[in-house]
Amino acid sequence: MAFYVTTPIYYVNAAPHLGHAYTTIGADILARHHRQRGEEVFFLTGTDEHGEPVVQVAEREGITPKELADRNAQRFLDLLPRINVSNDFFIRTSDPRHKARVQEVMQRVHDNGHVYKGLYEGWYCPKCADFKTEGEIAEGNTCPIHRIPLDREREENWFFRLSSFEQPLKDLYGQRPDFVAPRSRYNEALAFINGGLQDVSLSRAKITWGVEVPWDPEHVFYVWFDALLNYYTALSFARDGDDLTERFWPASFHVLGKDILKFHAVFWPALLLAADLPLPERELIHGYLLMRDSEGVETKMSKSLGNVLDPFEVIERYGADALRFYCFREVSFGQDGSISPGGFETRYESELANDFGNLASRTLAMVDRYRDGVIPEAGIDEALSAGEDGLGELRQRVCELLDQAEISRALEVCWAAVRRLNRYVEERRPWDLAKEEARAADLDSVLYNLAEGLRVVGLLLAAYMPESCTRLLDALGEPGRELTDFGSRSGGARVERIPPLFPKLEATG
Ligand code: MSP
Repeated sequence: MAFYVTTPIYYVNAAPHLGHAYTTIGADILARHHRQRGEEVFFLTGTDEHGEPVVQVAEREGITPKELADRNAQRFLDLLPRINVSNDFFIRTSDPRHKARVQEVMQRVHDNGHVYKGLYEGWYCPKCADFKTEGEIAEGNTCPIHRIPLDREREENWFFRLSSFEQPLKDLYGQRPDFVAPRSRYNEALAFINGGLQDVSLSRAKITWGVEVPWDPEHVFYVWFDALLNYYTALSFARDGDDLTERFWPASFHVLGKDILKFHAVFWPALLLAADLPLPERELIHGYLLMRDSEGVETKMSKSLGNVLDPFEVIERYGADALRFYCFREVSFGQDGSISPGGFETRYESELANDFGNLASRTLAMVDRYRDGVIPEAGIDEALSAGEDGLGELRQRVCELLDQAEISRALEVCWAAVRRLNRYVEERRPWDLAKEEARAADLDSVLYNLAEGLRVVGLLLAAYMPESCTRLLDALGEPGRELTDFGSRSGGARVERIPPLFPKLEATG
């Protein structure tokens, strides 16, 4: 089975921030989980390098757009290993192989009769790279997202006949109620379509930094069409001499933030239809990570709004796994949610250090102390495995939730299991059992079940916290990482005591 997951490609006019990391980590969790299920996975991320803002920033800095793109693309690349992201390829839209493939697809759209030349007049946000429709303009002709004045544009452009895809898109939404998730975003996209679609600019004549329109080289493609196509083009050149398109297209999941819903849920399927290409299976739209600004108002984290939490700093102090955990624990994937340094610390202490880290340390220490480091032989204890939230059903529930890309809910289910294991320790009091020779079999059972429970939880959480779970599973003597042959292990494995998975933080001043 093939699983193809993508992130948006990020603009190179600014450096990466936690908002970008958030999307990328979300996609990474899905990619890792599906690999553990034995599927053939392709996970793509990258940078969107064309368009006006890149030209403007480069001009300000006295360098070429390409130089700016090279520098900032490197920053996005550098972020990936630091947040433990396991992408299979990193696409840059300035790559000549991408450009050639864009031209090929767009030529087909042209030859299929879906483009024409016309005069564009209207409001344009250079930061969104978006020609705003009437309903998308805030007071005083400003951008509701960036709060900057919109530019009045009047230029001769090539247009894409988006209007002629209104009915096909309605049909798509009617036939595939899970095309866009969550449901609220599906409704939003459908309302946009039902509101009537206008044709959109496909090219720009005033800009040269972009992909040339093959039938009119005075123009470059409007950056969104060039950018959206990355999901498709990358497969053709990601592996030298091996075109992966057949194997992985259409994508299983596009993961993206709600700010770019319209482009993905309306323009993108229309463009693919116009090019006779299959549509992606699902689009998963998440909300914003919000930070409080200096006036205490919650706003989207964004470079242009200047309220950025630097992921590098967070990782420095808490580690990548803690960041990955926190983002999806604190903010339910799909909703907006506030994050804060204080919130980090609380979750880190109470959930990572106490709930999970302590459970691991205690279990490994007790097996070491009471059974010379070897997990005893015993049977599964119904007290832990039974019931809807029992460990017996855990794998299935996590898989079902992640099939729906319910990243936060799947994490919650795992955390309920961690807590259940902790309660089990308190109830069974293995330290008391250890004092009575006659209760050796009971102690065997408790230790076996704790080790087994931790193994199960560690395997399921490995997609979220790869580093810590690898350490834990190694310490438990668990060689595999697959979720396929999950079944219960018998005792006998040798465990190893390890330093705390999540050491307590030193107080900061
Ligand atoms: N280049 C376009 C996307 C083209 S995809 C074919 C773009 N780039 S961007 O750099 O602005 O990144 C947007 C994406 O970054 C959002 O859709 C979202 O996934 C992520 N985020 C940026 N800021 C964010 C938050 N504050 N919170 C959550 N996600 C955020 O748009």
